Amino acid sequence: MVPSGLPATLTAASSVDKVSMRLVTRLTIAFLTVVILMLALHEFRQLDEARADFERDMDRTHYLVATTLADSVELLIPREGVEAARKIVEQTGARHDSDVRIRWVCLEGQLDAPPAPVDCSTLSEPQTTTRTNANGEIRRFTLAPVRIADTTHGAIEVSEPPAHEGDWVRQHFNATLLLALMTAGGMALAAFVLGWWLVARRTRALMEKARAVGRGELEPDLTLPGQDELSQLAGEMNAMCRHLGAARESTARETAARIAAVEQLRRADRLAGVGRLASGLAHELGTPLNVIEARAGLIVEDTDASTPVQSSARIIIQCTEQVTKLVRQLLDYARPRKLEQQVFSLDRLAQTVTELVDPLATRRHVALKVETSATVLTQGDEGLLQQALTNVVVNALHACSEGGHVKVNTSVVHAREKKWSTVSVTDDGVGMSDEVRARLLEPFFTTKAVGEGTGLGLPITASILEDHGGFLGVESAPGRGSTLTLHLPFVP
Ligand SMILES: Nc1ncnc2c1ncn2[C@@H]1O[C@H](COP(=O)(O)OP(=O)(O)OP(=O)(O)O)[C@@H](O)[C@H]1O
Ligand SMILES: [Mg+2]
Repeated sequence: MVPSGLPATLTAASSVDKVSMRLVTRLTIAFLTVVILMLALHEFRQLDEARADFERDMDRTHYLVATTLADSVELLIPREGVEAARKIVEQTGARHDSDVRIRWVCLEGQLDAPPAPVDCSTLSEPQTTTRTNANGEIRRFTLAPVRIADTTHGAIEVSEPPAHEGDWVRQHFNATLLLALMTAGGMALAAFVLGWWLVARRTRALMEKARAVGRGELEPDLTLPGQDELSQLAGEMNAMCRHLGAARESTARETAARIAAVEQLRRADRLAGVGRLASGLAHELGTPLNVIEARAGLIVEDTDASTPVQSSARIIIQCTEQVTKLVRQLLDYARPRKLEQQVFSLDRLAQTVTELVDPLATRRHVALKVETSATVLTQGDEGLLQQALTNVVVNALHACSEGGHVKVNTSVVHAREKKWSTVSVTDDGVGMSDEVRARLLEPFFTTKAVGEGTGLGLPITASILEDHGGFLGVESAPGRGSTLTLHLPFVP
């Protein structure tokens, strides 16, 4: 659980650390176990060999002592008798370590002569054997026969419990155990440090990258130098990031295209609705409007100019014209257009439109000018595009207060992965709020007073551009003016 107050990234980083150190610890333990097992096996074999060496050494020493003493006794008996020889053996035995026992066994005629662990009568050569007595005491015996002229006079016995061997083995074992522990400790430390450097540190980088990918950060920026598996994994992760990035971009493009298609369908649907309404209205209103206008005209003709009847008749004519204009605009917006395809200069179009709307600019005291650099060509219906541009320029003039500026200029730009011939209208007027911008192409959306705007100007412009395969670009900020750009097919 993440403790409250602790930043999530810190907690994530420390859990990454723990995970990678767990791996290193496991590797170290596995490595250590293998090293200890191998050392133990080696030591076991060494110990076995050392024990065999020790036994061989002990047997050789016992053999030398026993045979030398037996030879001495054989020489002494004829000259000084058995008793003297026995004393020599006893003195030799007394001089030695209490664990090493040297005695003359199976001596015939000597009642107190100790029994031998083997049958002396059959003993012709020195013999070595191990025996356990009734008390469970283990001894290693070496017996050298004493022979004088084919007669056996017992044997010289040298024996020693293998306890000394145990001491020696224990010392050897302790020394090698210490060495083994130091070696294993050193190796464990080395394995841990190397494991951290080569595995934990780099695994952490990989895990952090995986988390970043999970958060949607797809920069292929993971670098793990080297040629090993982890470096290759880093390369694969970078490749994966590149693929995911490309897939994300294409998904975003597809989604945008789908949204645009849906939007177009909705617009087409709306157009169809408005079209039906418009043709219905045109049909139903056309005749009465004509009648009203004609009758009002008759009243104007038949009355005196100073009378209120004539001024009322003129107002009726004006209103009728307004309604007729609205019906015509509706029809313009909704009617399927037949485009005339011709190549023409956008600069010429800009010039024509500005000349047409110049009286309005003069009336509103707004400076209107055209800026063209090189000839920009496009293909389409010049008449319809003139209508589209006029709507935009008139809007710009309406947006400016007295002393404002409206600039029309043409250029070739790159947008939506291709070249466009454009004509832009820039004003330093009121600008648009986000809400106005969002609703700009909605039919009947207007901020103008009732009777001053129908809210059909820009929808008609956008629909004409769409018919040409183009689109309307809008840049605007409240109080900072606007730039509306008509994007049209580029003709080189
Ligand atoms: N250059 C501009 N600066 C600020 N607002 C603008 C600009 N051009 C358009 N608008 C806003 O967009 C609205 C819709 O414009 P549109 O041309 O479609 O309709 P309208 O001008 O209101 O009426 P009409 O049908 O007579 O053109 C306008 O009412 C205005 O609020
Ligand atoms: Mg308008």
